[in-house]
Parts: sequence; C-alpha cells; structure tokens
Amino acid sequence: MTNTFELTVNGTARLLQHPGDRTLLDVLRDELGLKGAKYGCGKGQCGACTVLIDGAPARACVLRAKRAAGHDITTLEGLADRPTGALCVVQKAFLECEGAQCGYCLNGMVMTASALLRNNPSPTREDIRLALRHNLCRCGAHVEIIASVERAAE
Ligand code: FES
Repeated sequence: MTNTFELTVNGTARLLQHPGDRTLLDVLRDELGLKGAKYGCGKGQCGACTVLIDGAPARACVLRAKRAAGHDITTLEGLADRPTGALCVVQKAFLECEGAQCGYCLNGMVMTASALLRNNPSPTREDIRLALRHNLCRCGAHVEIIASVERAAE
C-alpha cells in the first residue's frame, strides 16, 4: 500500500500522507492549513465543517479523507477569486448584511448558500430556509443570514 494519496482541493492537486481513517476535516485543517471549515459537533449535525464535494455541500467531519480522493473539494478559502483573493459575492453579502455574530457557523452558511445559488440563482426566502435548515446558528442570527443570501442573489 502506498504511503501517499492525492486530493484535489480548491483546484490544486495535493499529495498527502495517506490519511488512514482520518477525516477530511482533519486533513484540511491540520495538513493543508485550511482553517475555514470548523469543528463543531463532529457528528455531521451542525454544518460548521461544510465543504463542497463536486459542488455539493458535504460534512467534512464525518467523511473519511480517502473517500474524497478523485473528487473536487472546495473549501471556504477556494470561494475567493484567484489570484486576486477578492471575496466572492456570497462572502461579501455576509459581511455587508452582518450575517454572523460569533462567526462559528459562518463557514457552513457560506458554503451551503454558495451551493444553493449555483443551482438556483434566484431562490425564494423559503428556498433559502430549506437549504440552510441543517446548518445551526446558536447566536440566533438567522434573520441576517437569510438577508445575506438574498443580497448575494441580487
Ligand atoms: Fe461537522 Fe458539526 S462539525 S457537522
């Protein structure tokens, strides 16, 4: 068995030590230094660790890294424009509408909203609520979060 494996993260192929049973979240944060995705519940329930796998939201805390090989992984860092680093429209909208209080859920909200808007550029408020229903915000910033997604869709 080889001691390395490859992950494609934010458009770049990365050769990594074989992760064994490590989660994608651990590999992204600890090996690649990508700290956008957060560890919240560690059980696939809160959404803080959300990344996009082939454009669809996925919970990196419960996904074995080796299962992500061969897929396109996008993290919060990968949403910004390359090479300028300018924030994407969703990130900008969350800043403008103050769609975060403590900010811990922000990664998951932004990643899930980005996937929603890619598939549905003009979502209704109900569409947004439905898309974000499994992303938890303990501060109660839901009004601002929904306003942020609506702003991003304008
Ligand atoms: Fe992954 Fe909560 S940390 S869903």
